[in-house]
Amino acid sequence: MKHFTTMIERIQKLMAEVSSWSAANAEELEALRIKYLSKKGEISQLFNDFREVPNDQKRQVGQFLNELKVKAQDRLNDLKSGFEGTNCTDADADYSRSAYPVSLGTRHPLSIVKNEIVDIFARLGFTIAEGPEIEDDWHVFESLNFPLEHPARDMQDTFFIEKTPDILLRTHTSSVQSRVMTGTQPPIRIICPGRVYRNEAISYRAHCFFHQVEALYIDKNVSFADLKQALLFFAREMFGEKTEIRLRPSYFPFTEPSAEMDISCNICGGKGCNFCKHTGWVEILGCGMVDPAVLENCGIDSKVYSGYALGMGIERITNLKYQVKDLRMFSENDVRFLEQFKAAY
Ligand code: DAH
Repeated sequence: MKHFTTMIERIQKLMAEVSSWSAANAEELEALRIKYLSKKGEISQLFNDFREVPNDQKRQVGQFLNELKVKAQDRLNDLKSGFEGTNCTDADADYSRSAYPVSLGTRHPLSIVKNEIVDIFARLGFTIAEGPEIEDDWHVFESLNFPLEHPARDMQDTFFIEKTPDILLRTHTSSVQSRVMTGTQPPIRIICPGRVYRNEAISYRAHCFFHQVEALYIDKNVSFADLKQALLFFAREMFGEKTEIRLRPSYFPFTEPSAEMDISCNICGGKGCNFCKHTGWVEILGCGMVDPAVLENCGIDSKVYSGYALGMGIERITNLKYQVKDLRMFSENDVRFLEQFKAAY
């Protein structure tokens, strides 16, 4: 009888204790579990002592004991669900933290640089214009003074889609010039970013698709001096105020005169390095005064209006900014490469 009363009393006492359990965090909860339910815990101890309960009392005591154990486990679960998902009390909660760790994506380096270029020209009053990547021969070549059979067409190896009528993948964003000029009368001041395609073998320095930004300004009395001023502004905004520019005469069918622009190498500061082939200068874009024949092709009176155009490869500018040695990195989507641009704008 002695066993029976003491066991029942001990169980009742523990039942009362379990009802008054409270735990504010996971550590306090764990302390309760250890005190009562671990191997040497008070409830487990009762199970050990249960062996000594006389046989005729075992059924009743055993039932009580099991109830106690179930109640204790339920209570632990209830307390746990009260603060699940957090390990802290209200008092030390940091409400400024995000709800869960959000891993931030990164912008593609080409997008970062494209945005920078567009931003700089936007400060000069240029607005974005876009055109299709699948184009017709007239917008890519014919209107821009590349007549059929003209050798200048060979400068850009073209992917053709249909032969008659000639539908192709645009080889340069200059096609957006003719698209806009045929639909709008000056003043026109546009900046045209986009992807272009050329049938070239893929290597570390060439790809069958890449990206360009084109700028076009048409108005009354636009001169080469305006072009030069815009170029200098762009170069210094993009590469720093110490940057120098130099214009070399060149040839493009749609501009007359045409030029290529070099900037003082921003990697060695013009002293000469591998990147600039020890010349101190790197070529970054083509430009010129829009050929009057192009204006006429697009329905703009070349006796009233003049304008300049320029075009550059975004990959090239990005290489100058970030020294990416292999062009293919831009299209392989390797997160180890892309994640390095986390901090960039
Ligand atoms: N479209 C030329 C190319 O892809 C680049 C270019 C040169 C664009 C001179 C222009 C320009 O607008 O004036 O090689």
